Amino acid sequence: MSSLLIKNITIVNSDYSFKANVLFEDGRVLQISDKPIESNAKVYDGTEKYLIPAGIDPHVHLALPTPAGPSCDDFEMGSKAAIAGGTGALIDFVTPKRGQSLIEATKERQKETEASEIPVKLHVGITWWDDSLDAEIESLFKDYGIKTFKVYMAYLDNIGLEVPQMHKAMKSIAKHGGMMALHAELGIEIMKLHYEFRQKDRLAAFNHPWTRPANVEFEAVQKALMLVEFTKCPTYFVHISTAESVQMIREAKAKGLPVFAETCPQYLLLDDEKYNGPFSQVAPFIMSPPLRRKEDQEALWEGLKDGTIDTISTDHCPFTMKQKSAGINDFTKIPNGVGGIYHRMGLIYTYGVLENRISLNEWIKLCSSNAAEIFDFENYGKIEEGEDAPVFIWDPEPEEVIGDSQPFSNADTNVYKGLKIKGKAINISEL
Ligand code: URP
Ligand code: ZN
Repeated sequence: MSSLLIKNITIVNSDYSFKANVLFEDGRVLQISDKPIESNAKVYDGTEKYLIPAGIDPHVHLALPTPAGPSCDDFEMGSKAAIAGGTGALIDFVTPKRGQSLIEATKERQKETEASEIPVKLHVGITWWDDSLDAEIESLFKDYGIKTFKVYMAYLDNIGLEVPQMHKAMKSIAKHGGMMALHAELGIEIMKLHYEFRQKDRLAAFNHPWTRPANVEFEAVQKALMLVEFTKCPTYFVHISTAESVQMIREAKAKGLPVFAETCPQYLLLDDEKYNGPFSQVAPFIMSPPLRRKEDQEALWEGLKDGTIDTISTDHCPFTMKQKSAGINDFTKIPNGVGGIYHRMGLIYTYGVLENRISLNEWIKLCSSNAAEIFDFENYGKIEEGEDAPVFIWDPEPEEVIGDSQPFSNADTNVYKGLKIKGKAINISEL
């Protein structure tokens, strides 16, 4: 039996912080007290440090199959990055091939997740529709512990759903008590713009954001909200990036619609200036939705502050430059996605808490507790006596300037390169 006594540390929960002594036994919080605790346990001085619930990253794509090969971090690597950065659980995706049974695809993906060193849940993609999937959704919900079903309004040529199919999927998800996770970008508009750009031979990497302008996202959000109103299907909007979408979701929440929203550090901290330059400079930033204007960043921070946006995920989906080069002559072939699992907690601590945009408690709410509640991670997201949820110590002192590589990643570029970051996670099981 291993025990540890952390003295004089500040416990940060999503709703309050306080100084305490904390006794752990085999990873379980045995006692929390503001008085001295008598114990023979190994002692760690927590003065000037925080004890935080482990982060949850509710949107990652590890080893995501694409025509340019799988995204370059697998479950083992991604989970190591998570642990090193203060995150204790992930949610990845099942992406069934069109016509493939959702259940078969889920079983295959569940096997892959076994390489992870931390718990991984899955959002199951509904990449095609016929009415036989209603029974599969019911079974996934009841027998496989799947709560969320991902629908892509984009990517209509391979995994996306047209609006009428999405409507049917939403009715089924709602009927069985699940939740839809939605990639809101209008696929048909993107296809039209891709066609126009191809006709004009505008295929260099910097054209990518022009084919996915803000309205492509917020008009998709608007359409989806109408369907939420009709179907009452609880809906979690992933990677929200525009001011207009934030406002629509704010109004939907005020009306009492069952909606949740997520954004990512890249949309909070980086902007569309990154799309000026040659392929080698621009390709690492090719993601969907693309980076937006500085004004959108402000709206996203306001949305986090007032509860419109519930969670901060990474959408971790990195590719090497060799993989990105699949689109050197045609931006539509550049695999989309960036990394971030390792840096998420530190970026939001540095640019959220230390810049006074959010409080310490809101940091925990947005990076851990809200996701624990929305996605049913029992014991996660709070530090209480008797709980055995993973926790980390957060040392607010260490500083680093982010470099080219990402720790615990096979990626050879890092979109956060050059940003200063303060604070570092300490894994208590290594003390
Ligand atoms: O660019 C991104 N976000 N790539 C990952 C797949 C997706 O669309 O979420
Ligand atoms: Zn994603």
